[in-house]
Amino acid sequence: MSARIIDGKTISADLRGKVTDAVHRLRRDRGIVPGLAVVLVGHNPASKVYVRNKTKAVAEAGLSAFDQDLPEDVSEVELLDLIARLNGDPQVNGILVQLPLPPQINPDKVIAEIDPDKDVDGFHPLNAGRLASGLPGLVPCTPLGCVRLAKTVHHSLAGLEAVVIGRSNIVGKPLAQLLLAENATVTIAHSKTADLPAVCARADLLIAAMGRPEMVRGQWIKPGATVIDVGVNRVVGEHGKAHIVGDVAYAEAKTIAGAITPVPGGVGPMTIACLLLNTLAAACIQNGLPAPKI
Ligand code: GUN
Repeated sequence: MSARIIDGKTISADLRGKVTDAVHRLRRDRGIVPGLAVVLVGHNPASKVYVRNKTKAVAEAGLSAFDQDLPEDVSEVELLDLIARLNGDPQVNGILVQLPLPPQINPDKVIAEIDPDKDVDGFHPLNAGRLASGLPGLVPCTPLGCVRLAKTVHHSLAGLEAVVIGRSNIVGKPLAQLLLAENATVTIAHSKTADLPAVCARADLLIAAMGRPEMVRGQWIKPGATVIDVGVNRVVGEHGKAHIVGDVAYAEAKTIAGAITPVPGGVGPMTIACLLLNTLAAACIQNGLPAPKI
């Protein structure tokens, strides 16, 4: 049997359409145009592509973009000063500093400087704490996208055995918190987990986010399970041509899983759609309005 393909492109297009409609209503009824500042430091090629895609999506949704490109050798103080200015700018509702940053800059200091109410990445320790405590706050975009994709397969995640592979602050940990809030039974596995295949075999919902090309094999997967692949790995094939693969061996996995996200075209587009959603929510809250339920 072949798994149902969870089409992140279509699902994200639907979400982006709903955000665009809500942005239009906000502008028409209240004169508010949500604004997002995306800060890119240096010329990391992957970061440049991500930022370009984000900026394009921001414009298409009718939001204002305040892009900030800084040179590779910018000092930490200069970057912190820029963030302080963006924090104080009422037209800027969301601030995203693209990671990774060059070595002279401490990313933890930068993230801590962002106003938590403008932290559309959901990386600020206050937002991480709010998520862990079940309080409302801004939630990281990739985990949010993963949960939305899982919910296109499962009406409810309550009672499911969910296994998250990867424990990063950006994906693994916040994703585990979101799944817990959905009443799933959550395991976080990582590079030191003993017998990872056996842990994966328990999962009704398996989410791979460890950044290792095609590490999760087909035989590890419980038949019929839902598999969400967060990995984006550039590998060079036999003929010297580079291509992108996920953290899951897709061709094997799709003969065993019940549903699976492709790479590319799965989680990636959802991350951007959730960034637009977070920026809209931040703009509403900063203007004393409830965040729209989308
Ligand atoms: N680099 C890779 N993923 C992300 C992300 O979601 N947000 C930011 N700011 N940087 C990233």
